[in-house]
Amino acid sequence: MNRSPGVALAKSQPRYVCQTCGASAARWAGRCDACGAWNAIAEEAPRQAPPGGLRRGGIGGGAARGGAAIEFVGLEGRAGDAPRRASGIAEFDRVCGGGLVPGSTVLVAGDPGIGKSTLLLQVAGALGAAGADRAAGTDGAGEAPSCAYVSGEESVEQLRLRARRLGLAGAAVVLATATSVRDIAASLDTARPPAAVIIDSIQTMYVDSLDSAPGTVTQVRASAQELIRLAKARGFALLLVGHVTKDGQIAGPKVLEHMVDTVLAFEGERGHQFRILRATKNRFGPTDEIGVFEMSDAGLIEVANPSALFLAERRGNVAGAAVFAGIEGTRPLLVEIQALVAPSALGTPRRAVVGWDGGRLAMVLAVLEARCGLSLAGRDVYLNVAGGLRIGEPAADLAVATALASAAADRPAPSDAVVFGEIGLSGEIRPVSQTDLRLKEASKLGFRQAVMPRRPQARGRRAPAMPNGMALSEIEHLRDLVGLIGPADTPKLASAT
Ligand code: TYD
Ligand code: MG
Repeated sequence: MNRSPGVALAKSQPRYVCQTCGASAARWAGRCDACGAWNAIAEEAPRQAPPGGLRRGGIGGGAARGGAAIEFVGLEGRAGDAPRRASGIAEFDRVCGGGLVPGSTVLVAGDPGIGKSTLLLQVAGALGAAGADRAAGTDGAGEAPSCAYVSGEESVEQLRLRARRLGLAGAAVVLATATSVRDIAASLDTARPPAAVIIDSIQTMYVDSLDSAPGTVTQVRASAQELIRLAKARGFALLLVGHVTKDGQIAGPKVLEHMVDTVLAFEGERGHQFRILRATKNRFGPTDEIGVFEMSDAGLIEVANPSALFLAERRGNVAGAAVFAGIEGTRPLLVEIQALVAPSALGTPRRAVVGWDGGRLAMVLAVLEARCGLSLAGRDVYLNVAGGLRIGEPAADLAVATALASAAADRPAPSDAVVFGEIGLSGEIRPVSQTDLRLKEASKLGFRQAVMPRRPQARGRRAPAMPNGMALSEIEHLRDLVGLIGPADTPKLASAT
């Protein structure tokens, strides 16, 4: 880092690179100074030709030698909307922001075995079909293939088997197995490259001028850089598959995430068939958008109505369950939140949570205890978001509190009610966005009541239209909720049976 530019690295001196964050160090250490990861520092061969640096030419001394003048332009101009290439798989296209942008790079990251290769092969097939339609419109002669799938993990035979299983055998997709970026680049550096190129996975690729093993930060970074440069130059959309390490990070994560235009995380619980594609970064579209798929025998199936899916296994009238009316990206999504409160055998009771933030659970519990007199001391608390979804919205607070209060009192919350709202530390219920959308979705799925924050009607703004005949319980303080379901004498909400 403090190397003086003129001094080339001594040939024999190895470099130690953190495989988590890409920081390099002069000595090996058990813990990375930059990111704090343990056991992540590995020895890598030094770069053979360290960049000379510009300083020798004297960057301040007039025009840098050998550099061409770059041209600056104004913000106005006719760039035109980037023409997107939609695959026709609606859940995928929406998460991408409407389709793939030519010349851009998308990283699809996820645990091994979650279904990344399956998803991308299906996308390739769909792009191939879309391309074939386009070609049929023109004369189609000598049309470049719509999509190329380069695998460093599976053989062509395995890919063909999978394609057959997915019913894609006839699609206009070309397959190859390769791991050398030099070979791949040479094949794609043509005037008519495919419209989209899939690299499965970036961890298997290597640049032969580097000595490091494939999968190391140095190789991942160099391979990605080379492929991204080519994608920009030749105008094809590049899709990189990236495996996530077991602590939830993409190998060389920071490095890859900032190099690519779009990061899509493919998540799901092993035991569940649901898979969620989530945009965590998108230079060409919104983030926080999700696409929901179901893994089946014949590959991934789009789930157009995820609320119905997430509520499918719900059993009404059990204590400790509440339906949260949430928003994911632009879409409303109803999901059941389950809580269990049990006597604890431990000195320090357990608080376990799946699919939600543990810190937020602690906060909701504290507010319930301090402001509503609900005592949970000496009792274990478990919280679960059904279906394997992860919720990040603060609007889930009230639904969590409902499930907890219902579990603690051993009284079912009304099974035809949805709940949403953010809880403040004093127990006040704060309004959340998109009330209309949440209510509309709930009404569509047959819910008849909603427990929600009080709407600011007094401010002369148009009150949200009430979806047909839903009863709204607008509450201002968490106490009111505990009153609604707690062991009060008469429940104010009619329990549907
Ligand atoms: P895969 O796409 O190979 O995962 P990744 O590339 O992320 O490592 O998916 C592998 C899993 O998906 C495997 O456990 C089997 C399952 N699967 C199905 O259930 N149905 C299918 O049609 C396919 C192709 C795979
Ligand atoms: Mg794979």
